[in-house]
Amino acid sequence: MENLNIDTARFLSDIQELGRIGVTDVRKGRTRLALTSADIEGRRWFISRLVELGLNVMIDKFGNIAGVLEGKDNNQLIASGSHLDTVVDAGHLDGAYGIVGALAVLRAIKVSGIIPEKSIGVINFTNEEGIRFKPDMMGSIGIAGYIDEMQVLSALDSEGISITEELYRNGFAGHDVFKPTRYVELHIEQGPVLESAKKQIGIVKGIQGLAWWEVTYTGQACHAGAFPMDIRRDPFAALADFSVMLRENVSKISAAVCTIGVVEVYPKVINVVPGCVKFSVDARCPDPDDFSKLKKSVKTLLRKTAAQHNVKCSFKFVANAPAIMFQEDMTRVVEMCALEETESVMRLISGAGHDAQFMHFICPSCMIFVPSEKGLSHCPQEYTSEDDLLMGVRILGRVMMLLSGKDN
Ligand code: GLV
Ligand code: MN
Ligand code: MN
Repeated sequence: MENLNIDTARFLSDIQELGRIGVTDVRKGRTRLALTSADIEGRRWFISRLVELGLNVMIDKFGNIAGVLEGKDNNQLIASGSHLDTVVDAGHLDGAYGIVGALAVLRAIKVSGIIPEKSIGVINFTNEEGIRFKPDMMGSIGIAGYIDEMQVLSALDSEGISITEELYRNGFAGHDVFKPTRYVELHIEQGPVLESAKKQIGIVKGIQGLAWWEVTYTGQACHAGAFPMDIRRDPFAALADFSVMLRENVSKISAAVCTIGVVEVYPKVINVVPGCVKFSVDARCPDPDDFSKLKKSVKTLLRKTAAQHNVKCSFKFVANAPAIMFQEDMTRVVEMCALEETESVMRLISGAGHDAQFMHFICPSCMIFVPSEKGLSHCPQEYTSEDDLLMGVRILGRVMMLLSGKDN
């Protein structure tokens, strides 16, 4: 099959242009938390591209945005996409690559004049990162109906503002409904696997499970000089012990990882033993049974460490994305398309969470990865070579053309 003629200059300039949205200090990367002004600017940028391509622009009740090129059979939607929101001080590729890559493919299809058998679309999913609102992958969870939609739409940020309020305030509470019948997401790997294996393309066969907790340890604030160590109820000391034991426990579970990324100490004063700490726990594992074990051990350890320090422990389970394996026939189709472009292909499991993890529950899905230099992502140093980025886009083009054809 002849591949599409991708406008590489336009793809690369779009990546750079989108990457400038949300930059306040170039050394710090960009920050586009879901439905903040920077994310809204990104969304408007995206819609302007959809309009330029003459696509049918749709917005659903979760604020997900789709641009669709209608095919002869409008009941089938072969979709790609990713997310415009970012973490804090993010790189320019996480999410953006999948959006701009899918736009490049749709542009090439438009220019070719092909009317596909099935509709082809690009979707921007709301709040993939889950920094402002929990859980992450919220837009795809909404479309898949994976958790109750009222629960999704009532999520609050740290200031008590609800996602629904933000969707209405910014004009992104839509009424359209779109559900992919096939989904393929293009993404940077965000870890070191492809680079160390010296492979250019990863075919993602599955995604590991992800669990998040928001924890509060409450003890008793007291004087840092006058109060004896042995009778303190110091929640930070409890957190420090928890952190060490968590790492020990996790090292016993194959391929599991854990992170404490947020720590807030109160009252945050040099001469006061803290009265309270709030912190996050992120725990992940590819094997479903081990993932259950891991979640249980995090909860047990949280309680045990609190008891040892005589502090109160409360926690909220705020995200729970299951470990999944994509359907083999879909993985094979994507792998076959990749092999038409390069022999440098390997299968791997994604360490990061993605919207494909939830699209998987409503339709055959898969992902294409390109290498991340030094395995770095979720930081301003995130980098992938232009050659690798373009290789991924060409493969996505092949996959979209194949899947939108008559016999697939
Ligand atoms: C999203 O990037 C995640 O895996 O946390
Ligand atoms: Mn991402
Ligand atoms: Mn991310």
